[in-house]
Amino acid sequence: MATQTIMMPASPTPSMIQKAEGTIASAFASLEADNFVLPPRFKELKKEIWKENLVQAWKEILEELELRTNEIISQGGQIIPQINYAGLSRGLTPEQEAQVRKTGVIVVKGAVPKEEALAWKQDVKDYATENKERVKGFPAGNIQVYEFYNTKSQVRGRTHPAILETQKQLLSLWGTSDSSTEISLTTPISYFDRVRIRQPGDTAFTLGPHVDGGSIERWEDPGYRLCFKSILEGRWKEHNPFDASPRINAKSDLYGGASQCSAFRPWQGWTSMSTTGPNEGTLRVLPMLALSTAYIMLRPFFRPKSTSNPDAPSLKFDDWELDLSSTAFPGATLGGGLELREKTHPHLRLDKTMISIPKVEPGDQVYWHCDVVHAVESQHRGEGDSSVLYIPAVPLTEYNATYLRQQRENFVAGLPAPDFPGGEGESNNTNRGSRDDIITKLGLQAFGFEPFEAKDTNNTAFIHKVNVILAVGA
Ligand SMILES: [Fe+2]
Repeated sequence: MATQTIMMPASPTPSMIQKAEGTIASAFASLEADNFVLPPRFKELKKEIWKENLVQAWKEILEELELRTNEIISQGGQIIPQINYAGLSRGLTPEQEAQVRKTGVIVVKGAVPKEEALAWKQDVKDYATENKERVKGFPAGNIQVYEFYNTKSQVRGRTHPAILETQKQLLSLWGTSDSSTEISLTTPISYFDRVRIRQPGDTAFTLGPHVDGGSIERWEDPGYRLCFKSILEGRWKEHNPFDASPRINAKSDLYGGASQCSAFRPWQGWTSMSTTGPNEGTLRVLPMLALSTAYIMLRPFFRPKSTSNPDAPSLKFDDWELDLSSTAFPGATLGGGLELREKTHPHLRLDKTMISIPKVEPGDQVYWHCDVVHAVESQHRGEGDSSVLYIPAVPLTEYNATYLRQQRENFVAGLPAPDFPGGEGESNNTNRGSRDDIITKLGLQAFGFEPFEAKDTNNTAFIHKVNVILAVGA
């Protein structure tokens, strides 16, 4: 299969060169982001993007944020939509859909039987014991997040029919403003990520509020910037976070950052392998999608006046001024995610608006939109482990198929997935996952082992193209 001559797309193409070895710690920017100074060219970038009407937009966004942050604070965990898998597979009600679109987050209950998810966790533990000389993770010596991409449990989770069906439903909330966009939002494919088994008391694995999918790229890459066109033109209320058309050409990883996702990943997500509630080391989200994006995108163009306390800037519009003279894009680095702090993004009131995911059971899934600000609780004060398989919802696109091909090759060889820190990975491990662990056709397709099928004449050419990229069935 791999030796077949195939036509590769001109661009973009994932690097065939492995990233440096590492763990999830490579993705932490926390301290670095606070003091990061961008090169002078970013001052020019600000001037290039700037439009006079952004002052009015900024004023409106600050007003709206005051209302929305109060709403989030008063509702707390209630604000996060929780939907039963049975209901989701029939389709969301209009109210549920509106809630998911507004918050950008969803908890899907009961898709995978509890015992099955618990068995996945046990298998990961057994695999870690069996291969203990070669196991890597974070923190070294007391691993909470494993550098595992190729375990049998991950293969089973990624190809589980109910998980793939959940993803199909969630991807279908996205649409295309350009009908010629080459994408299948009804075809979830597999995007490999790690495993977390976080023990009670752990304080090492903590991630402050951030957005993945690159950071400065949102402004610097012309394709990525198009995803936020209406915001950057001052028409922030028209921003549609669910338009896939501009996203498929966005470059979110201009600097080859460790663990930065180069694929188009509309929904980040995990499937729980434990009973875990707030304060038990779980995920926290800012349940506000379009409005927080509008704020984040305009934030670099404004700064608190020098009379303001730098550690606790005033939230009043009049206490802020235009900043086109510095290179500041607060929270952005080259090669990291976008980090948000109370002092850099004070209007989001992150100390009160980051909401913990309500209690989940093994087999429940959580997904959050790729623009949603999220974090991991700094402490795990629970009694049991807080464990997840990171499984996002990713659709079929030309770039994603190219990535999938390389991911498949790495999987067969037991190497880490292409976006992640490199090295020998699990290549010398015993009992890792293989193609034989995939028992459904949809699962084999999601891994890139079997050809995709055109659902109607509109996408025949596209499906043929991705099958050629994957060198399957062609
Ligand atoms: Fe993240």
